[in-house]
Amino acid sequence: MNYNKKSIEDIDVRGKKVLLRCDFNVPLKAGKITSDKRIVAALPTIRYLLDHGAAVIACSHMGKPKGEWKPELSLAVVAARLSELLGQEVLMAKDVVGEDAQAKAAALQPGQILLLENTRFMKGETKNDPELSKALASLADIFVNDAFGSAHRAHSSTAGVADYLPAVCGFLIQKEISIMGKALSDPARPFVAILGGAKVSDKLNVINNLLEKVDTLIIGGGMAFTFLAAQGYGIGKSMLDSEKLGYCKDMLQKAQEKGVKLLLPVDTVAAKAFPDPIDGPIETVTAPVDAMPEDMLGLDIGEKTRQLYADAVRAAKTVVWNGPMGVFENPTLAAGTIAVAQALAEADAVTIVGGGDSAAACEQLGFADKITHISTGGGASLEFLEGLELPGIACLQDK
Ligand code: 3PG
Repeated sequence: MNYNKKSIEDIDVRGKKVLLRCDFNVPLKAGKITSDKRIVAALPTIRYLLDHGAAVIACSHMGKPKGEWKPELSLAVVAARLSELLGQEVLMAKDVVGEDAQAKAAALQPGQILLLENTRFMKGETKNDPELSKALASLADIFVNDAFGSAHRAHSSTAGVADYLPAVCGFLIQKEISIMGKALSDPARPFVAILGGAKVSDKLNVINNLLEKVDTLIIGGGMAFTFLAAQGYGIGKSMLDSEKLGYCKDMLQKAQEKGVKLLLPVDTVAAKAFPDPIDGPIETVTAPVDAMPEDMLGLDIGEKTRQLYADAVRAAKTVVWNGPMGVFENPTLAAGTIAVAQALAEADAVTIVGGGDSAAACEQLGFADKITHISTGGGASLEFLEGLELPGIACLQDK
């Protein structure tokens, strides 16, 4: 994958209409935005375009309306928040490429911003329908993609539209690919990656790709138990991806052949059952992995493992982290995830958190400003770490 893409600084945007794809897929609760992080992350590009005399036609998806008009997934709430953050009016179109969007886009003046309705209200969006891509392109002179969180989707508004307009990236995509791209292609060493999360099957290609690049690979979360089982440990009632035992053995061998240190838990915080509700009270014991009680399941890494993982992180010069170490939604089972987040915050290293749950954990714990880069992508950052080509980036002009 070529990460050397043209950005808005490489072209002349003055007097141009710019179709700007953002990832405004923000979490909502009872119609209110609960985190505006993705809107804030889009501001540098929007401000640059407006300050340089472009008329900005912003667009995004929200949720999965599957081609239906769902008022609860209207981007009007985003327009309101964006307007507050920018300190200027954000015009809102009533549709995506219909009469209202066309009329408002045609009348838009340099320095003004218009937001189209949720692109997934159109059936063609997720099919990358050329008709929708052409209709979007007809609104503008230039396409700027700044939606890193959606760059793994080959949809009309993230990739297809680039067939019909000159296409470059905004500052957010530029930042995401320069920091994560450098970590993967030319990292300061030692390079340590920490992977967590429930299932091995979600991270197969990430593990395989990272073993080619890192000095140390740390595994935690539910998926560590399939690795432990592959090494012959009894794992009690812990989560087992039985179909992936062979894969885990292959990865353990690959690590050995490549001289990569692969760290697995040495102890685990276990309980008789998964907490229900997830944040409810729970009785736990800490057990070494060679003495796991048969009637229990592991739900977090134990204290010795926390120490082991934190030491590896503190010795690193580049750290990439994706996925929690345990059921961190439960205060009794959050210590492993907290220990890793804290070690990243304290490390004298380039530290990168690959979106999703681990990003949320860093933010909730107040460590966000001590991390070099927290990706705005969940699925997108994972595919990036897998070494896959992201369609929303591949479609942009090379430098
Ligand atoms: C995300 O939240 O990861 C992106 O906005 C992509 O959303 P999607 O998984 O619905 O395509």
